[in-house]
Amino acid sequence: MARRRPPAGRSLPQLASDFGGQLPSARPSGDSGRERHREEAALLRPPAPARGHARPGHGWSPVAAPLVVYRASTAEVGGIFPLLTANGLPPTGALIGYDALTAGGFYVDPVGWVLNQIVTNPNLIFFGKPGQGKSTTVKALLLRMMLFGARVLVAGDVKGEYEPLCHAVGVEPISLGLGLPVRINPLDLGPLGQSWDQLPAAERQARAALIFARWVVLLKALIGVRGITASPSDESALAMVVAELSGWSRGGGQLRAVTIPEVYDALARPTAQLAEQCRYPSVQRMVDATRQSTDALGTLVRGALAGLFDAPTTVRLDWNAPIQSLSLRRLNDLGDEVVGVALACVNSWSRAMTDLRRPGEITIVVRDEVWRQMRLGVGAVQSLDADLRLSRNDGEIQVIVAHKPSDLLAVGAAGSQEVAIAKDMMALCDTKVMFAQDPTIAEELAQLVGLTDIARDWVAGWARQRTGRAVWMVGDRVFKVTTVRTPLEVPLFDTNAALKAETGP
Ligand SMILES: Nc1ncnc2c1ncn2[C@@H]1O[C@H](COP(=O)(O)OP(=O)(O)O)[C@@H](O)[C@H]1O
Ligand SMILES: [Mg+2]
Repeated sequence: MARRRPPAGRSLPQLASDFGGQLPSARPSGDSGRERHREEAALLRPPAPARGHARPGHGWSPVAAPLVVYRASTAEVGGIFPLLTANGLPPTGALIGYDALTAGGFYVDPVGWVLNQIVTNPNLIFFGKPGQGKSTTVKALLLRMMLFGARVLVAGDVKGEYEPLCHAVGVEPISLGLGLPVRINPLDLGPLGQSWDQLPAAERQARAALIFARWVVLLKALIGVRGITASPSDESALAMVVAELSGWSRGGGQLRAVTIPEVYDALARPTAQLAEQCRYPSVQRMVDATRQSTDALGTLVRGALAGLFDAPTTVRLDWNAPIQSLSLRRLNDLGDEVVGVALACVNSWSRAMTDLRRPGEITIVVRDEVWRQMRLGVGAVQSLDADLRLSRNDGEIQVIVAHKPSDLLAVGAAGSQEVAIAKDMMALCDTKVMFAQDPTIAEELAQLVGLTDIARDWVAGWARQRTGRAVWMVGDRVFKVTTVRTPLEVPLFDTNAALKAETGP
């Protein structure tokens, strides 16, 4: 039998050793080896001569496979053999693109994944350099999940890039901006406050605790914007103030929404009763002790919150519409701080609005560009963390779009606290979608997420070669996926096209 030279390129042993493995040597030669081979050949092959039976239709090709024969265990063969099995995710949910390893379709079905125990929660976090296709993939997911009846809430559309998508499904986004009539009160009660009078006392108690916890976390985050960390005493003063202003501390089980300027006024000019409740010997001592936090809140009330987040809410979310979006595009000119504060307020308010959604419905809450909120400090990160942790609904999918791991590590916070929050956030989002990163960031990401070296190199290499490519980590399974846009979707998803349409050619 004529032996052919193996094709040029790396040989199998080289290939295996490049990936850290080692193949056993070629099958042993010599008498005993030949003997064993004959035995195996007799076992594994039909009893026929090397070139088959010399009869019409029975011979086989005399061309030998251009490979040397090796023996290896299935563990090693699995790593080198180019036959890849199907990806193991059920083909249900939104078809997003194709799996670059198997060339099969890649479907995203976060709720189905939870039901099939592939992931422990349905939340997704996206990482990637700007312009790599994160928002496009999120929009594709939203539009394609809408086909399954999912309701979408875009909690803060900083660039106004979700507006074409809203218009395409016949929905007018809610625009926030100075001079516009829309006000959002982040200290709303939300659906938890519905039919309050008919609730039993224990349920009122539980809901009031949830509502106050959200309020206090947000107020702390807002105070943190000015670089002030609210002390435990400040925090308890905030809790007392909101309980007092909402009418809860008067007993009788009543509760009303309060506004941030009301909280500021109560802290700036506390009553004697409030000072006593907060265990200050006098009103003046309370004013002096909480001055920094109070003033930090005061500057926001007069600044970033003014005309936007300082009065009762004037809009209602329409949960019958396929999508609702809070557009913050008009705030962009007002600077990063205003955008960050707006995102923190809108995120907190959105959590309230999605409390107690009808069971059985799938809601997707999108938080794009969260790094702008993260930059406000550790309080803002904690606020987002709480928003995720306290979303109480089955069937609610949280989608977070970040840039890089350090987005999650707020500036100036103590090292261990940063890491704890980032890890927490990772655990809260069991699906990580990683678009292209520079090699150093890819390494950071690999550390945080627990990527193998190969997957890390995909993030730093393969993904960078084309927009729309990402490494998806679904639970502990890893996929290389390219998002595909249909021609109809391109104008809806394309940020640049949307901007061009806005500003003219
Ligand atoms: N899957 C894709 N295929 C082709 N082009 C894409 C794809 N995803 C994104 N793009 C292009 O890249 C641009 C930036 O995408 P975008 O989703 O806004 O990125 P990011 O949110 O990561 O900053 C889009 O306007 C589009 O032109
Ligand atoms: Mg984007």
